[in-house]
Amino acid sequence: MSQESSWSWIQDSITEDLIEDLIEDLGARVFVILAQLIGLTSLIFVGIWMGSYAGGFAWQSDPDLEFNLHPLLMTIGIIFLYGNSILVYRVFSDVQKLKVKILHATLLALSLIIGSVGLKAVFDSHNLAKPKPHANLQSLHSWVGLGIVILFGLQWLCGFISFLYPKLSKEARSFYLPTHKFWGITIFFLAVANVLMGTMEYATELNAFSTYKSHGIIVNVFGICIILFAILIIYILTERSFERVKPDGDDDHITLMNVRNGLNDDESRTPLMDE
Ligand code: HEM
Repeated sequence: MSQESSWSWIQDSITEDLIEDLIEDLGARVFVILAQLIGLTSLIFVGIWMGSYAGGFAWQSDPDLEFNLHPLLMTIGIIFLYGNSILVYRVFSDVQKLKVKILHATLLALSLIIGSVGLKAVFDSHNLAKPKPHANLQSLHSWVGLGIVILFGLQWLCGFISFLYPKLSKEARSFYLPTHKFWGITIFFLAVANVLMGTMEYATELNAFSTYKSHGIIVNVFGICIILFAILIIYILTERSFERVKPDGDDDHITLMNVRNGLNDDESRTPLMDE
């Protein structure tokens, strides 16, 4: 190959790689923005549902209306914020690892706090009901829901101790990371299934599908948005072409595949829901 043709070959391949990277980057951004739009639409719809069709909001002064905070806060906390917190390693793959870890833990803590207020609202609405309190934890939704919040709390604590403070050794972190990822995704999946169960339970109780046509439509659109949001989050997490090369100097960056193969992660890409 002449010097001229090898130079043009290098130029072509650099351009091709660059264009390919740009397209992948753009693809990831489009899906992340789409997930935000759909997630926000689900919040608007559950807000309209609880605010207009289910009677509005109150705190302990009106236990029936206090209940309406439960679906809204659970969706904000355990679906929207949780879903976004497991995306941060993808969205900020070029930001220093420690900062992303802190963001991940902070968003999850916020999600857990908002979810806990949502739980308090539903327990209050049962315990303070007039003329007499309603029994707690009767339905499948309530059992699964309590399980999710307990698992979430444990997962947060184990993650914090292992990856942030006091922070385990590199070997121990690598050993625990696949378990952390597994439970992170499982909790999200269970939360999505449980929101759909709770939605059907409340919509049936309110006769949403037989009173006004619009009531049923609001409920259905909310449910579809939750499903689409979950599909997008899982897609962004699992699509390999959205994984990007780790930033320089991130010494504790371990991929799921490398952990399994026992390899050094020097040439690894940003992993699926990182530590
Ligand atoms: C991941 C999110 C959610 C979790 C973890 C969760 C958890 C719970 C728990 C633990 C209870 C039982 C409270 C008690 O027995 O006093 C409950 C009750 C209830 N939730 Fe949820 N919930 C979630 C989302 C939703 C949503 C989005 C709706 C409706 C749109 C909903 C509707 C209900 C209803 C109707 C009850 C009362 C009846 C029952 O105890 O099953 N929940 N929820």
